[in-house]
This record gives sequence, structure tokens and C-alpha cells, in this order.
Amino acid sequence: MSAPSTPQPLTARTGSPLKGTVRVPGDKSMSHRALMLGAVAVGETRIDGLLEGEDVLATAAAVRAMGAEAERLPDGTWRVVGRGVGGLAEPEDILDMGNAGTGVRLMMGLIAGHPIRAMMTGDGSLRRRPMGRVTEPLRQMGAEIDAADGDRLPLTVKGTDRLVPPDYELPVASAQVKSAILLAGLNTAGETSVIEPEPTRDHTENMLRHFGADVRVTETEDGKRKITLVGQPELLARDVRVPADISSAAFPIVAGLMVDGSEVTVEAVGLNPLRAGLLTTLKEMGADLREGQRRAEGGEPVADITVKGSALKGITVPADRAPSMIDEYPILAMAAAVAHGETRMEGLKELRVKESDRLAAVARGLAQCGVGVEEGNDWLVVHGLGGASPKGGATVTVDLDHRIAMAFLVLGLVTEEPVTVDDGAPIATSFPGFVDLMTGLGGDLS
Ligand code: S3P
Repeated sequence: MSAPSTPQPLTARTGSPLKGTVRVPGDKSMSHRALMLGAVAVGETRIDGLLEGEDVLATAAAVRAMGAEAERLPDGTWRVVGRGVGGLAEPEDILDMGNAGTGVRLMMGLIAGHPIRAMMTGDGSLRRRPMGRVTEPLRQMGAEIDAADGDRLPLTVKGTDRLVPPDYELPVASAQVKSAILLAGLNTAGETSVIEPEPTRDHTENMLRHFGADVRVTETEDGKRKITLVGQPELLARDVRVPADISSAAFPIVAGLMVDGSEVTVEAVGLNPLRAGLLTTLKEMGADLREGQRRAEGGEPVADITVKGSALKGITVPADRAPSMIDEYPILAMAAAVAHGETRMEGLKELRVKESDRLAAVARGLAQCGVGVEEGNDWLVVHGLGGASPKGGATVTVDLDHRIAMAFLVLGLVTEEPVTVDDGAPIATSFPGFVDLMTGLGGDLS
């Protein structure tokens, strides 16, 4: 099992305005998917812009363990040689997916459609997270899954090439669950359908089509999105260009808005409409945020985003926006801390089962830094200080959660006293180079 690394405390202090143009690493969701689909396509897939964070490297190691080739070339692109749909081999050892919820859940689906057995585990955070949302539908399709108490990791998936294609209505709006079922449907005869309670990121659907699968999206009678995959397609290797991750771009974007006198541009940010809820929210809060010309990268819209230090105002963020910005609430809460008035965020139940209980972590950390917060079961209210500096002077517990670490380091750029996070090491799961990028903009982080 993943060994805990030595904690690396990091501290952020108020300093000069942030200035400059940066590019953040590749999209994590798309990077996992590109490796997995490349591994079951016929031929050689080239991936440009793959996120080389620990989460994605764990997925690369897993596909290698099942017989695909996946390697970084000297020019920084990745080469994946796939084994065709249904062609993955049984891994000899346990697949250690580290901190990666997306990695483990999607991989469970992919494995379920193969007549192989694989044991999977992860770090302390991943072992706490619920897997029942994926094991349930995969078991209904005919996979055998033996999991630790509460349907958690470590678990063993015994797949088959004779799964029964489901018509599955998701109980939670989760792109990971949707994707796991679609990937299980790849090597399944017949049509696999998934119905979502609310639309979630559609990178799996887009990328399956890109590799040659027949994926249809229709609307059910009650207005829900239904995705249908025709099973056993021949996937052909394709080149994939991964755009910059909006969930990583969110940190320099919000930092640029919070620090007076800043002007920050983040280049070529992926703007898939099912991911871009944060930008809508920030504009409603009065952010000086400009989007450059839109263009396409890897089949997804991208644009440069430029922000200037802004006087933000508190708003209500509606529950139905949550799926399109689910990973951005921690950093949004930091912006809310300096906004004028109250920001109310609703529909946040899923935040409780992310890399940590993010609702609790954000509420606790903000309170420690002298910001008024109220926490409900699935909502959060932040009482903004109206442009005054939060007190800070706290050490925030990260609990193996990269986004909690980055969010509170951004807050520390505007607090009276420095903010320390007890462990910055998890940042490498999704955003290697975060500290250098922020210090390059002028932030005081060490
Ligand atoms: C992801 C889906 C979301 C998100 C995660 C990445 C994906 O999780 O929070 O960071 O790549 O499909 P859920 O599916 O659990 O909402």
C-alpha cells in the first residue's frame, strides 16, 4: 500500500501584486482517460500535454501492469501502445492508485469488462473514500468485486467479457461513476446506457468518440441526459492534445482576483461547458475576468483567461451549478472570504467524499484564519470581510488533500499573518510546479 511521504509544510505570506502569464499543467480528468483509452485502442496513441502528476502516473503504471506500453518520450509527449478492446492482461501485482479517485474508479470499470482479476488499493485518503457507487453497478453487470468493509479499498475486481449491458440511472451526479460504467461497457456485447440526474463532465463520451466508438446522447422523458455506448467497438489509436486543467487554473485565477493590483493571464485553459461553472460564479461576484479568443484543443474549447485584482461581492451559488465546478469550491471559498457580504454555496454534499471532507476542511480552516463561516450538511456560508485582510496566522491540516493545501496557500497571500499548510506534498498529485508557478507570479510561498 502507498507509504505516507514525509510531511512538507508550506507557508504563504502577503507580498506584492501577482503579475504575469502562466500555463498550468494538463487536465487531470482527460489525462486519465487518454491513457486508459490508449491502452485499449489498437495502435500507437500520442498524448501531448499529459498531466505528469502522481495521480496520472499511477494510471500509467496500472495500464503498463496490464500489458499496454505507456512511456514519456524525450520531447515530453507520451506514447501509448494499446492492446485492443478486451485485450488487457491480468496484472501480476496489486495496482496502487495512490490518491486518485478518478484513476481507481475508472480503472475498476475498465477491468470489469476483462476476464482478469486485479487487486487495487491506494493511499490513506483513497482507502477512506466510498467505492460502493461503482461496485454496485459493476456487480449488477456481472463483475465480482470483493471489497473491504463499507465497500472501500483495498478491493479485488474479477471481471468477465460477458457482462450484461445495463440501463443504469446514477443515484449521484458523478462523472467517475458514469465513466466506470461506460468503460465496463466497452467490452460488453449490446448497448450500455447511463442516465445522469444532472449533466456531469463529458470527457469520457467525447474521447470515446474520438477513438472511434459509437456514443449517443439522448434526453429521457423526464429531461435527464442518457448516454448510450454501442459495445465492442474497435478503438483505433488517436493523437490526443490535453488542454490546461481549469481546476488547476482556478488557483492562479482566484489569487489574481484576491491580491490587489494583480494582473494574471492563464493561457489556453480548457473551458468544457460542464467544467466552467467557476468562471460564471466569479463573474457574478464582480470579477474583472476576461476571456480571450476561443479555439479548440483536443476537441475541447480553450481560451486565455486574464484577471485583475477585483472588489468581489458575495452571491448565492445555486446547487445545480455544483457538478460544473465541484472541485473549485475550496478556492471559491477563499475568494468569498475577502468578498463584500455573504456567499452562500448550496448542493455541496459530494464535497464530503472528496480527497478529504472538503466542506469540513474549508469551514475549519477559514474559522482558524479568522473568517466567519457556517457549515450545513450540504451547504456553506462564508461571511466575507469586504476587502479587509483575514487574520490568518494558522496552520491548516491538509489531510492528504491537494486542493485544500493550494486553496489555503492562496488565502495566505492576503492575510495579516502567514498561513501554513501542514503538508504541501499532496499538491504533486494534480499540480506539480504549483509553488514555482505562484512564486513566479510574485507570490510569497516557501
Ligand atoms: C472527475 C469527476 C469528479 C471530480 C474529480 C474528477 C472525473 O468526481 O471531483 O476530481 O475525472 O470524472 P465525481 O465523479 O466523484 O463527482
